[in-house]
Amino acid sequence: MSRYICIASSKGGVGKTTTAINLAHTIGKHKKTLLVDANLTTPNVNVHLGSPILKKTLAQVLKDEASIYQAIYTHESGLRVLPTITSLQDLKKLKYERLRGVIRSLEGEADIILMDSAAGLGRETISTIEAANEILIITNPELSSVLDTQKTIQVAHELGKTILGVVVNKAGEHRHELKVNEIEKLLDLPVIGIIPYDKNVKEALKLSHPVTHSHPRTKASRSYEELAGLLLGKKYFDSVNKKSRLMHDYVLERIGLV
Ligand SMILES: Nc1ncnc2c1ncn2[C@@H]1O[C@H](COP(=O)(O)OP(=O)(O)OP(=O)(O)O)[C@@H](O)[C@H]1O
Ligand SMILES: [Mg+2]
Repeated sequence: MSRYICIASSKGGVGKTTTAINLAHTIGKHKKTLLVDANLTTPNVNVHLGSPILKKTLAQVLKDEASIYQAIYTHESGLRVLPTITSLQDLKKLKYERLRGVIRSLEGEADIILMDSAAGLGRETISTIEAANEILIITNPELSSVLDTQKTIQVAHELGKTILGVVVNKAGEHRHELKVNEIEKLLDLPVIGIIPYDKNVKEALKLSHPVTHSHPRTKASRSYEELAGLLLGKKYFDSVNKKSRLMHDYVLERIGLV
């Protein structure tokens, strides 16, 4: 059975797309993986990957103008992706309630199907959460972002989804940030990954690559590797953990143990 993991946060700009791309790229080295851009109103995955002009994307699949297999591409980095490009006309026509069925028709196409989702908690975001069986919550270490994230968690609970935990992205960007234990208390969930604010992430964006591909030895890439290992299970975690000592120290420091 495929695993369907939605990367979610109702707060915009926290790093959902960045996390989805880098996790899919890293996990893709170990397991057959597919990244689905389920953000229909403001799709970003294709933009992050260089904006190639594509005639068939998830939008055409949802309109019955293409089969799902015609809309799957392999990026130069090796990342397998089902992208989305939508016009204003598409947005009027698209039936969000079809999203779950279309995504679930990918069963067997990949071991892990990661979904990038839209900010907010509109119908498309709810449909994406419905399509998943596991949810990975993304937040930044600041109060407004954490409070917004609480709403996503509530919806995921109401829909009976397994919440894998919280990823704190852009850690260290600002001086007065919430500490990991404060975020855990506010959200009543464990923080399972900390991705530092890393200028290499922006450099990678300029190169239209996952940072894990263009800058594999940076702090951000190591922390994505560590998180990917955690999501895949102990066997993988042990193998990447040795390589990510630096990040491990960083995590301990953030938690306040060093
Ligand atoms: N760890 C990081 N370090 C530095 N910059 C980052 C990091 N993570 C994300 N960014 C940058 O933050 C910006 C927003 O990231 P991203 O597009 O992934 O957020 P998002 O949650 O998907 O946004 P939206 O809600 O609009 O879909 C991008 O410019 C991205 O390069
Ligand atoms: Mg996004």
